[in-house]
Amino acid sequence: MSESGNMMQWRIREAVPADVPNILAIERQAFSIPWNEESILGWIRGENRCYYLAEEAEFGVLLGYLGVFFVAGEGEIASVAVGAPFRKYGVGKSLFRHLKGICRRDRVGSLFLEVREKNVPALALYESEGFERVGFRRGYYPDTGEGAVLMKTFIHP
Ligand SMILES: CC(C)(COP(=O)(O)OP(=O)(O)OC[C@H]1O[C@@H](n2cnc3c(N)ncnc32)[C@H](O)[C@@H]1OP(=O)(O)O)[C@@H](O)C(=O)NCCC(=O)NCCS
Repeated sequence: MSESGNMMQWRIREAVPADVPNILAIERQAFSIPWNEESILGWIRGENRCYYLAEEAEFGVLLGYLGVFFVAGEGEIASVAVGAPFRKYGVGKSLFRHLKGICRRDRVGSLFLEVREKNVPALALYESEGFERVGFRRGYYPDTGEGAVLMKTFIHP
């Protein structure tokens, strides 16, 4: 699938083990508690889970990724990040649009995720993609004491 936002064009594909170093580079930049190599590799190779990458169309530079685990007709989003220079071009949104297409194809009825209560960009992305707040876990993240906002959206066939 080919996508574009302003001057940037990208495509979305499933990750393979050779992508791990590039994923790690964004992971370390984006999160205070990043996943390590082993966890990302386990996710790429694991059953019922997928890691989708957005890569720049011409040179294949990794722009961002989304990891999801499918269980009992629901997709649980475990990880979403876009490299700092590539944010606010619509990459995050297009990863979600891609995932929703997969969900429709595979009859996955809903998507679920957790997000830090003060993560304004992520909350904006999820709300713009139709996620609604369905719960709150106070003090869930030990590093900052932030609560976790639980969000869900239903996939309409
Ligand atoms: C959250 C993140 C993935 C968003 O990716 P992105 O590619 O920049 O998002 P998009 O450009 O697709 O924007 C999607 C929507 O969110 C809004 N948004 C994105 N960044 C925003 C910001 N900093 N402030 C306010 N709104 C923002 C956009 O305006 C857009 O809204 P619209 O549909 O109404 O136009 C990115 O900021 C990121 O990687 N952050 C660090 C990692 C992280 O926090 N991941 C989420 C963990 S739960």
